[in-house]
Amino acid sequence: MSKKAVILTGLRANNDLHIGNYLGALLPIVDMAKKKSDDYQVNLMVADLHSFTTPIDHYRLQTQIKENLKTYVAAGLPVDNDNIHIFRQSYIPAHSELTWILDCFTGMGEMGRMTQFKEKSSKLSEDRVSVGLFNYPVLMACDFLIYGASYVPVGDDQTQHLEYGRDIAGRMNKLFGEMFVVPQPVKKQHEFFGKDQGLRIKDLTNPNKKMSKSSESDKGVIFLNDNPTLAKKKIMSATTDSINKVHYDLHNQPGVSNLLEIYGLIKGKTPKEAESEFAGQTQYGQFKQIVAEAVAGFLSEFQQRLSEVDEQQINQKLAASEEEMNKQANETLLKVQKAVGLR
Ligand code: TYM
Repeated sequence: MSKKAVILTGLRANNDLHIGNYLGALLPIVDMAKKKSDDYQVNLMVADLHSFTTPIDHYRLQTQIKENLKTYVAAGLPVDNDNIHIFRQSYIPAHSELTWILDCFTGMGEMGRMTQFKEKSSKLSEDRVSVGLFNYPVLMACDFLIYGASYVPVGDDQTQHLEYGRDIAGRMNKLFGEMFVVPQPVKKQHEFFGKDQGLRIKDLTNPNKKMSKSSESDKGVIFLNDNPTLAKKKIMSATTDSINKVHYDLHNQPGVSNLLEIYGLIKGKTPKEAESEFAGQTQYGQFKQIVAEAVAGFLSEFQQRLSEVDEQQINQKLAASEEEMNKQANETLLKVQKAVGLR
């Protein structure tokens, strides 16, 4: 096991990534990778096994996995650094092996209470709700416990899964003696990443709903590969309210607050700092125009960097990282296998 504390996150490759994924998960880990890679090991993976817990087009999966990896690099992950690793979950079989073991110490009730399971399963007919969707948080916990990760930057929708990961780590340590690093409490994680709460970017057409890769309509979702002009249109037609004041107030003005959040993160400001830029404005047109320009500018730059990503460099990095990750993951797996009596 690496002696440095570990920061890890993963993104599924079930569809194109959107700015919610970028701002909620990629931005914080890339930021840490840039600033703190001397003190931390930074692991960024493609959660390829998680990508089909709900039905997808499997013919697109390989392309999407490659797109995710390129996105990580275009987002600024410094891959020429030995403390930083990129890898595909399914290339490290110990994740799946550990999942079976932890499945056997996890309650059906515990998984059934997961909000995301309830939401996703309610949209599918019973035959299409897979066992994989049900125990998805167990695999997710194994993804971070197997490397002893202390910090796991995720959007707010994944907080409950992170809490489960802390629970199962503590439970196993109590039953069999120390085998897992228990990740930091969620509040501490927010502090570490410079936030006061988990991030939940909302759908632009319905700011009471999370922006999601699997939304029925693309109108409320800004994908990282959206044409900047189209993205501007999406922002200009975002649902707001009739209060006509640019206030960061998640409860009463969720649409406006969502735009402030997006704008602030792109510009490196808190939502309150962003709000102060629009003090005194009594109409939303100009406010939206400024946010739209910022988003379009961000997308143009990002897409330019994406087009310049060196795929050969990614392949070399993957090979090196996956070798190292297998080594580290197998060490933890062996410890657990010994503890439960398998070795
Ligand atoms: P996934 O692929 O659904 O989403 C990837 C990341 O994006 C965040 N996210 C958001 N953040 C803010 N606002 C939004 N609207 C928004 N939508 C998505 C998610 O919270 C997530 O951080 N189970 C995970 C992938 C995973 C993982 C892991 C994460 C697998 N193993 C281990 C961390 C550690 C998932 O389905 O994310």
